[in-house]
Amino acid sequence: MVAASLWFTDLIVRKRDGKAVADDDWRRFVEALGAGELPDYQISALLMAVYFRGMTVEETAALTAAMAASGEQLVLDEGPYVDKHSTGGVGDAVTLVAVPWAAACGARIAKLSGRSLGHTGGTVDKLEAIPGINLSLTAEELKEQANRVGCAVAEAHAVAPADEIIYALRDATATVEALPLMVSSILSKKLAGGAPAFVFDVKAGRGAFAKEENYARELGGSLIAAAKASGRKAVAVITSMDQPLGRTVGNALEVAEAVETLQGRGPDDLLEVSAVIAAEMLTVAGIAGPEEARRRLEATLEKGEAFAKLDEMARAQGAPAEWWTRLPEAAKTAPVKAERGGYVSGLDAFAVARAANTLGAGRQVKEDVVDPAVGVVLHKKAGEPVSAGDVLMTLRYNDDERLRRSLEFARVAFDVGEKPTPRPLILGVLR
Ligand code: URA
Repeated sequence: MVAASLWFTDLIVRKRDGKAVADDDWRRFVEALGAGELPDYQISALLMAVYFRGMTVEETAALTAAMAASGEQLVLDEGPYVDKHSTGGVGDAVTLVAVPWAAACGARIAKLSGRSLGHTGGTVDKLEAIPGINLSLTAEELKEQANRVGCAVAEAHAVAPADEIIYALRDATATVEALPLMVSSILSKKLAGGAPAFVFDVKAGRGAFAKEENYARELGGSLIAAAKASGRKAVAVITSMDQPLGRTVGNALEVAEAVETLQGRGPDDLLEVSAVIAAEMLTVAGIAGPEEARRRLEATLEKGEAFAKLDEMARAQGAPAEWWTRLPEAAKTAPVKAERGGYVSGLDAFAVARAANTLGAGRQVKEDVVDPAVGVVLHKKAGEPVSAGDVLMTLRYNDDERLRRSLEFARVAFDVGEKPTPRPLILGVLR
């Protein structure tokens, strides 16, 4: 067991008492973390002190820079490189749609993505549902493909390893929501990814880490300030995450839905959020002004070029021809029916995420193996009318015991009652 160290105890005391910690001490903290020199109980105490006391902009910048430098850092070539990051959602297949779509309009994206975090999904888990795809690209392979194809997505194995250690402890100590810790976690990975411009999709609502819109705005503002302080351009789009995006939650299901969206047959909400994010990517990268960006996006979607780009990317990474017809499917299905009629007055993204993850779509603990085929199909969304006996959602599953536990969450996900006042999907754009 690692022994408590005195300098680190002093650092915890400073933070506990609401004093700023020097840049050098944040650097030393990240180095000691990487060397395995700090016991979990001391790191956890620091995280809780940050949760209550916060961090200054300078402290956040110092911690972020140290975390970004804790692993591999990409150096990208010239070109209109841009990156996007979601703060985490449910049914959030926006990367699968917006990245190839923006690339079809001239952007270059070398994207490092993660696996599921907490209750939220991860792009790497989703893409892994595609047969034969290779997500373990080296930095050179990622760059070469982004230059040649326009986009590439790989797993962020060796990037900002300090974040992995800190995140696991945040998850276990109820400190995930601490704003400076979120900023340093997200931005350290983006800075190490090397792009000069970022679009943050900051989710707000029941299925997001930021439950309150004000908190999401604060998070978006802090991400932009910290990105700009590091010499990057940044935009934050605040998007609603009260109910899941689209009509599916689960890895292969969401890939199929992204394909449909790029083929012009997808759900409106996924299309709208993806279009706004892709337009901001083109704008912040200096490829087109806002109106021209929307025009180009519409044209590439209509001509099938946006879908062709996703196909080209997947094939370049090892997927076979017509891979979207070969996605895994669960063996069994179970319906969840409405007990009474009315309108869907609420659809709780968090409960849907728990239902899907219990079936095996996500992880309860880091070591869990994800089942790419399972998940949830939503037949009704907030504001839609229902009659008693209508199927609200279908659970696609492979394991009866998992289904039994999943149903406990699925049954409480829907509220049926009065017609709700809809909240806009795009809650704001911060620059
Ligand atoms: N996504 C991240 O990468 N880190 C966080 O802390 C929250 C969402």
